[in-house]
Amino acid sequence: MAGSHSLAPTVKIAASVLAADFANLGASAQEALDAGADWLHLDVMDGHFVPNLSFGPPVIAALRSRTDAFFDAHLMVERPETLIPDYVRAGVNAITVHVETCPHLHRTLSWIKEQGVQAGVTLNPGTPVAALEEVIAAKDLLDLVLVMSVNPGFGGQKFIPSCLDKILRIRELLDGAGCRAELSVDGGVAGETATAAVRMGATVLVAGSALYGHPRGVEGGVRAMRQAIAGAQ
Ligand code: DX5
Ligand code: ZN
Repeated sequence: MAGSHSLAPTVKIAASVLAADFANLGASAQEALDAGADWLHLDVMDGHFVPNLSFGPPVIAALRSRTDAFFDAHLMVERPETLIPDYVRAGVNAITVHVETCPHLHRTLSWIKEQGVQAGVTLNPGTPVAALEEVIAAKDLLDLVLVMSVNPGFGGQKFIPSCLDKILRIRELLDGAGCRAELSVDGGVAGETATAAVRMGATVLVAGSALYGHPRGVEGGVRAMRQAIAGAQ
């Protein structure tokens, strides 16, 4: 399958702290990093774009004071362009915005990069890949494309199988444009869905419940995820 095997060894695991112990967030985030997660995935929800509220810059800044890890912020918020400097100041390394919230997507991505952090774009399961074509063709504008494999707003949902084909189509667009952006997948990623996503060309797997909810703890969850990645080879 296109783009699969050679990518598998470099696949990263991004631990979504949405599934962490919020009463003990610093330690819970560190646990995932100690277990071998490559990135922390920070799900910011505003209660408007998605029907849930999570955390914002002060919580991220508090986490930043505890670790140098790569912070992958996923903004599920309306008008994200107004908030970008706050997240940069809080210490994130990458900001991903939803195409559904950005009528001026090119401008918003440029603005993120001008602030000195990596720029990402994501799309809901019901949003067509075509919405990304122009920003992928602009190739230097994007550092990350995130494919939502659940409808955003909550952890612990089931992976939507049709998203696998979407990952493959985006992989083909990225390769065709010579765009070296990471291709990340988020929602219900565990076991077979992790293996299948890597086969389709994903280079980053976001996981919350598969890591924090693993019967053998986060360490067992990261180990199982590495095995699932290896299974794509
Ligand atoms: C959903 C979030 C995801 C979520 C993933 O809106 O963007 O990052 O935390 O959680 P799991 O891995 O439990 O599906
Ligand atoms: Zn997310």
